[in-house]
Amino acid sequence: THQWRGIIEEYRDRLPVSDSTPVVTLREGGTPLVPAQVLSERTGCEVHLKVEGANPTGSFKDRGMTMAITRAKEEGAQAVICASTGNTSASAAAYAVRAGMVCAVLVPQGKIALGKMGQALVHGAKILQVDGNFDDCLTLARGLSDNYPVALVNSVNPVRIEGQKTAAFEIVDMLGDAPDIHVLPVGNAGNITAYWKGYTEYAADGVATRTPRMWGFQASGSAPIVRGEVVKDPSTIATAIRIGNPASWNYALAARDESGGFIDEVTDREILRAYRLLASQEGVFVEPASAASVAGLLKAAEQGKVDPGQRIVCTVTGNGLKDPDWAVAGAPQPVTVPVDAAAAAERLGLA
Ligand code: F0G
Repeated sequence: THQWRGIIEEYRDRLPVSDSTPVVTLREGGTPLVPAQVLSERTGCEVHLKVEGANPTGSFKDRGMTMAITRAKEEGAQAVICASTGNTSASAAAYAVRAGMVCAVLVPQGKIALGKMGQALVHGAKILQVDGNFDDCLTLARGLSDNYPVALVNSVNPVRIEGQKTAAFEIVDMLGDAPDIHVLPVGNAGNITAYWKGYTEYAADGVATRTPRMWGFQASGSAPIVRGEVVKDPSTIATAIRIGNPASWNYALAARDESGGFIDEVTDREILRAYRLLASQEGVFVEPASAASVAGLLKAAEQGKVDPGQRIVCTVTGNGLKDPDWAVAGAPQPVTVPVDAAAAAERLGLA
């Protein structure tokens, strides 16, 4: 019997590890590539969802974290630190447990989803809520790792990008070639950097015949790359991408320009509409930030930017259970019935 072994074993020859590297894994990766029927109909294209919420801690961060914690272990680190809007900290906390390391996390006070906080807590991370935003947290984390014995596992650590590029490999391995367009949400811009690296490596080695156009979407209130300037006080309901000064800004511009793509913004309203469409019509429950990719695709289609007949992959980055408030908010309350079949049937509209 076989199971997926995790991205380091599956893509060992394409990652910076040696035979003696102590691999720390939760068997991340190998996530579903799901055909999106309604999105395909709406766009006249063949749309697939790369469902990264299926990773062990519920987001794509696990791909980078298995690499970052593995290398930190190899280098003898006993403690790791990260700044996070929630998913990186959940992932770091879990992988640190596997490695027997202390994990410190810095999160913006009051601006991370409850599920993510719960994950960091239950995995025993040392959590500091910072009176500032994600960008402040990252500045603080960099300073601490420069001056104290603690390894930084944010995506400014290049091995994180190495791990995350495997999502592009999986897509090409699954489809037989790169798609025409790849769409994803952009926050700190590590993931668009990583996918572009994965696609270009596969094309350079002839595994794929081409690279896709990279389309990235930021939330309107947190769209520094679109605006061309740092956003001092970023805002959006998609807390995962509430970032005003992305660390991988220049790499995101390179991915955009080298691929012939673009980076645009979507409003919170557009994000929530895509979030509900994904759940109610595709059967895929994601967190709001993840829906930015799909919101962006729908916006581009409405603007006439999507020629029919193309093959498109949208990455949906995190599991909906991380931030269930948005699923409950505005939804009708369930009705209560007695233990009575006739009453239940009536309320269900069956009678
Ligand atoms: N989607 C989700 C669910 C995220 O958690 C993030 C980033 C992104 C998209 C954006 O990816 O930063 O590589 O452009 N979350 C980070 C964190 C910032 O701390 O968990 P990016």
